[in-house]
Amino acid sequence: MGKAVLIFFSFCSLAFATDIYETIFDGNCGSCHTIKDTSSAPLIQNVIKKYKEKYPTKKEFVKALSNWVYKPNKKNSLFPEAIKHYSLMPELGIDKETLQGIAAYLYDKKD
Ligand code: HEC
Repeated sequence: MGKAVLIFFSFCSLAFATDIYETIFDGNCGSCHTIKDTSSAPLIQNVIKKYKEKYPTKKEFVKALSNWVYKPNKKNSLFPEAIKHYSLMPELGIDKETLQGIAAYLYDKKD
């Protein structure tokens, strides 16, 4: 297979992977975490910002965020005030691999 073809395929699978997790995020998280309405949960860009401050590398970020969402808890929370305000985020029953995909999507999200 030519190099150009290979590059083309890796590009497609990357684009595809991003789309999938964007869709999963919108369907499973976006109802509470929007980009402008804080009535149900902290804004997603604030969540991303805070996690990036504490976990600057993508690897740490993905691990910390996916682990937390897998089992929401007070102890490891970066949003203790939000827990007081909204109460703890519910456990969603999404598997770890999917949560890691969502977390990677959030890390790379531009806006
Ligand atoms: C039913 C509403 C709801 C849904 C659905 C939801 N969240 Fe949340 N989330 C919240 C609330 C409320 C908080 C703030 C309180 C807290 O941190 O527990 C929060 C906090 C968070 C935090 C910060 C955790 C911390 O305290 O350090 C992350 C990260 C997060 N959500 C990610 C997600 C992801 C990813 C999804 C989808 C897989 C999701 N949430 C779906 C309501 C929701």
